[in-house]
Amino acid sequence: MNLDKILKKRASIRNYSDKKPKYDKIIDAIEAASLAPSPGNLNILKFIIIEDKEKINKIAQACQQPFIKKALILVAVCSDSEKTNIMYDKRADKYIKQHAGAAIENFLLKITDMGLASCWIGAFSEITIKNTLKIPENITVEAILPIAYQHKTNKTKQKLKPNLGNIVYFDVWNNKYKNKPRKTGTH
Ligand SMILES: Cc1cc2nc3c(=O)[nH]c(=O)nc-3n(C[C@H](O)[C@H](O)[C@H](O)COP(=O)(O)O)c2cc1C
Repeated sequence: MNLDKILKKRASIRNYSDKKPKYDKIIDAIEAASLAPSPGNLNILKFIIIEDKEKINKIAQACQQPFIKKALILVAVCSDSEKTNIMYDKRADKYIKQHAGAAIENFLLKITDMGLASCWIGAFSEITIKNTLKIPENITVEAILPIAYQHKTNKTKQKLKPNLGNIVYFDVWNNKYKNKPRKTGTH
C-alpha cells in the first residue's frame, strides 16, 4: 500500500476476530516503531509482547476496556527515562512522550499496511500493568497496543478528521489566509 492510502486507512479498531496474527508481523511492527526519530538517537523504548491469556485478561481489566480481551496478542510500549534525563534535563519528559508517540504511530501504520488491526490504549492503571508484567518502578508504561485481525462484521472506517482550513495558519498565529495577515492591533 502507498503511504497516503495507509494514512487514510489507519483507524482505531476495537472488534477483533479469532485469527491469531503471525509472530513475524509483530516483529515487523516493532521494527517500524524502532525506526522513529528519537532525541539524540537515544534508545528509550522497550516493547513487551504478551500472548499469555491470563495476562491479557488482567491488562484488559487494568484498562477497564473489555474489548482488549479479544486480542490474542498485546504489545506494551515502555520507556526508560534515565539517559534522556541526563542529556536533556527539563526537556526530557516532553522528548520521551514525543518519541513514544512517533514510535507508536509508526507501529500503527505498519500494522495497517500488513492488514492487521490495533488501537492505541493510553488509559490504564499503570501499577496493575507493571505488577502483571514485572516491570521495574523506574520504567513508564506509555501504551498498550492490541494486535489482531478486524472482525468481519462491522468494519471500522477512519473517523472524520480536521479540515485543513481550520488547522493551518500562515506566518502568525490565527492567520488563516496566505498573503493576507490578520490585523493584530498595536502593542
Ligand atoms: C494518547 C492516546 C490515548 C488513547 N487511549 C485510548 C484508550 O485508552 N482506549 C481507546 O479505545 N482508544 C484510545 N485512543 C484512541 C483514540 O480514541 C482514537 O485515536 C481517536 O478516537 C481517533 O480515532 P482514530 O484513531 O480511529 O482515527 C487513544 C489515542 C491516543 C492518541
